[in-house]
Amino acid sequence: MFHQTVLVLDFGGQYNQLIARRVRDLGVYCQLLPCDVPVEQIKSAAPIGLIFTGGPNSVYDETSPHISPEVLALGIPVLGICYGAQLIAHTLGGEVVHAEKSEYGKREFSFLKENLLSGGIPQKSVCWMSHTDLVRELPDGFETLAFTASCPNALFGCEEKKIYGVQFHPEVAHTEYGNKLLENFLYAVCGAKGDWTMKNFAQEQVEKLRALIGNGKVLCAMSGGVDSAVAATLVHRAVGENLTCVFVDHGLHRKDEPEEIMRVFKEGMGMNLIKADAGERFLGALRGVTDPEQKRHIIGDLFIRVFEQEAKKIGKVDFLVQGTIYPDVIESGKGKSAVIKSHHNVGGLPDVIDFKQIVEPLRDLFKDEVRKVGLELGLSEEIVWRQPCPGPALAIRIMGEVTREKLATLRDADAIFREEIARAGLTREIWQYFAVITDSKTVGVQGDFRTYENVIALRAVTSVDAMTADWARIPFEVLERVSTRITNEVKHANRVVYDITSKPPATIEWE
Ligand code: XMP
Repeated sequence: MFHQTVLVLDFGGQYNQLIARRVRDLGVYCQLLPCDVPVEQIKSAAPIGLIFTGGPNSVYDETSPHISPEVLALGIPVLGICYGAQLIAHTLGGEVVHAEKSEYGKREFSFLKENLLSGGIPQKSVCWMSHTDLVRELPDGFETLAFTASCPNALFGCEEKKIYGVQFHPEVAHTEYGNKLLENFLYAVCGAKGDWTMKNFAQEQVEKLRALIGNGKVLCAMSGGVDSAVAATLVHRAVGENLTCVFVDHGLHRKDEPEEIMRVFKEGMGMNLIKADAGERFLGALRGVTDPEQKRHIIGDLFIRVFEQEAKKIGKVDFLVQGTIYPDVIESGKGKSAVIKSHHNVGGLPDVIDFKQIVEPLRDLFKDEVRKVGLELGLSEEIVWRQPCPGPALAIRIMGEVTREKLATLRDADAIFREEIARAGLTREIWQYFAVITDSKTVGVQGDFRTYENVIALRAVTSVDAMTADWARIPFEVLERVSTRITNEVKHANRVVYDITSKPPATIEWE
């Protein structure tokens, strides 16, 4: 099946995935590729347009990435953003200069004339600038299309060649009409048809999976998270009972989660879903363990062993489903960075399961697209918008040793927090929110009695991609309600604190 494609060439800017997501959201399939992708690869992808992203470099740095003039001569429309715009000017003979002061923040920009990118945008509006260098002289054949007080070529282009450069960032929400500008580039300049919709994607994937799998046997590790839920549902649509899902109940899930997963997928959808009850084994293996990395390793290893045992009962399988999504694919193409935490995502399963092929039905999708596919497939908002939960689940939200008592206290406190966030209508604004049980006890007075009980910490962050995060400014009244309810309703908790640390220096999870 063929979709029109836009290639986004990545020059290392912080908003690069955001650009790709915006393009997809506008109904055009796009891929994010490294900026040094060979010209031949670009040609063979036959894209309807190219976008050069921003990046941290100056075109004059010795090590800064460049672009072959050949790419600009392919006759494919190009939009360069920030560094990408400077690179276009520099490559085609214009002049880029180092400004005395960096420009950072909201600026008003004005169009000089109507052009293909200006449709539906007022003559003056607000854009988001973040740069030091700027384009002073344009290459031959190019003209200024818009300017700001301090940036003479905020937008420039050559309508004949369909090559444009924009100094500000249309992809960020602070640029009022940024989405419109991108839409104009895609539809008015590149001739996009808008053939990338999640309804089409779901239908096509089901057909593709059916053709690939045929009568083969498929195995899927179901965690209940949105990725594995949507991946399993797609495969289930395609091959029905030839799919077997295994849900490892490690006893560390949030309140009512295992029951919910069984209710939705087994009873509701009729999926062949096996629950492996391994709570006792996990608690036993974690007894006395307090080190976060050790907890992660124990849980990761045992998870694989339990899954392997269940899979053996099923017999030989042909395919193993993985919930890999596009950001994982992009990340895995990059260099190695320091291990902060040993994330576990059923990553070790392919080593212990005997199968012919891995199936990754979501590897082309961003998270927001996975959610849309889920809704197309009839999954509930609750499942599709479920809070991300790390593989080791509550074990790394319990500081110190994991015990049955601490698990029960945390589950109840966490459920109250989630309930109140939902009641306040904040579920979409806050990226992730959960409770932690600290390893501290403090003195309290409840009724007329002295208590000496656990401190519960609340963690809530806003984020785009979990790489960086800020603590969420939850209204005090909501925090007050959560605190009152936890200290009244939850056993063994007499104090609630709110975590006001960003990432970095902290991480989102506490362990
Ligand atoms: P941190 O704590 O590193 O978390 O700032 C970033 C995001 O990753 C999630 N997380 C995990 N996800 N397996 C996962 O699948 C893990 O072991 C794991 N540890 C952390 C965390 O919840 C946050 O969304």
